[in-house]
Order: sequence, then C-alpha cells, then structure tokens
Amino acid sequence: MKKTLFLECSPFGNTSSGTRLVQAALRERGLAGDDLPLITRSLAAEPLAPLSARYAQALTSAAPDSDPALAVSERLISELEACDRLLIATPMHNFTVPAALKLWIDYVLRIERSFTNTPEGKVGLLRDRPTLVLVRSGGICTGDAARQPDFLTPYLRHTLATVGIHRVQFVYLPGQPVADEALNQARRALAAFLAEAPLAAFLAEAPLANAQR
Ligand SMILES: Cc1cc2nc3c(=O)[nH]c(=O)nc-3n(C[C@H](O)[C@H](O)[C@H](O)COP(=O)(O)O)c2cc1C
Repeated sequence: MKKTLFLECSPFGNTSSGTRLVQAALRERGLAGDDLPLITRSLAAEPLAPLSARYAQALTSAAPDSDPALAVSERLISELEACDRLLIATPMHNFTVPAALKLWIDYVLRIERSFTNTPEGKVGLLRDRPTLVLVRSGGICTGDAARQPDFLTPYLRHTLATVGIHRVQFVYLPGQPVADEALNQARRALAAFLAEAPLAAFLAEAPLANAQR
C-alpha cells in the first residue's frame, strides 16, 4: 500500500476545514487508523523548534548528516523520503504559506542532502512523488476574481521542485464559508489523488481548482 505523508498546517487543527476534508477522505480510503501507511505531521499543533544558531551553522558548513544539530532536519527529510505521496492542507497566511509550514521547508531544504547546487541552479536529490496541496484562504486568491496576490502557489511549487518534487497539484478552498462547489471539487480531487486516479484530467475540468496550475 502506498505510504502517505500528510502535513497539517492550520492553527485550527482538527477544526480546520482543509484538514477535516483530508481526514474524511483518508477515512473513506481506510487510511485513518494507527499502523497504516500514513504519517501525519501536525505542524501547527506540534510546532517544530525555531531554527537555532547551531542548525544554521551546521547547514552552512557542510556538517555531516550525523551532526546532532541536524537531527530534526534528518527526521523530517527521512519522513519525506519514506512516503510515496505527499498531501498538504495549508491555510494562506498573508498571501503565502503559514510560518509553521515555512519552518518545515527550512528544515527540509538542505544543501547536499535534499538538493545540490549545479551551474544550472539547484537540483533536487529526492525522488519525485505525487503531491496534492489543499489551499484554504479567507478570500479568493486565484483567477480573475482574486483581489490579492498569491505567493503561496509559486513559492511552494518552487521549494518542492528544489528537492525534486515536481508532480504537484493545487486545489483551492476560498471564502468564509467555503462554497459547496469548491468543497465538492476538493473532495473529488482528494478521492482521485488517494485512488491514484488521473488527477490532471479532473483538474482540467475544475476551473476553481486549476486556476493556478
Ligand atoms: C495570520 C493570518 C493571515 C491570513 N492571511 C490571509 C491572506 O493573506 N489571504 C486570505 O485569503 N486569507 C488569509 N487568512 C485567512 C485564512 O486563510 C483562513 O482563515 C484559513 O484559511 C481558514 O482555513 P482553515 O479552517 O483550514 O484553517 C489569514 C488568516 C490568518 C490567521
């Protein structure tokens, strides 16, 4: 069975609409109990420690992977390496990713561990894997109706690509409350993603979901 890493990023935890949709989809696929091929990282409920000077020093001084200062980074990268697919439910905070997810990125993007520098730029060292990102926002952030910039989508696409993850698709859940149409699209996208059905075909029919693809 495919192993899934689920990153929950909302400060609302289990009451977050994005997280609840993912949990329901995982339950429907029988992926909600213990001992199943699912790792859940609750980045807001169990926050990662802020970056320390020792970590920054180890990162920028080619310290060996076994350096204790890199332990958290090692654990998070290993979790990512062990998964066959990645699922992220994140709110938009001030036009980009929330701080909790940014911290995960700061631990996972590590030179000579998850990416390397080449004359052409940074190249990922991790295996590519299907990734679905559910973006929850109070206002519309994609398409012609958006009245705010969306730095989240290009930023997350770029950072994931930096470590080698290119097969990333986004589904948006805008509004307060989220419209039924968007909720249904997200449910269908999640079901397709977990069933390994061709999500691209589904997203092509869903203007709300594919506005930033
Ligand atoms: C600190 C903070 C910043 C936010 N910034 C934005 C923003 O830039 N754009 C937006 O549309 N919504 C913004 N929101 C609204 C959240 O995206 C929204 O409350 C959240 O996505 C709710 O989803 P959830 O229930 O899944 O957590 C912000 C909320 C907070 C708490």
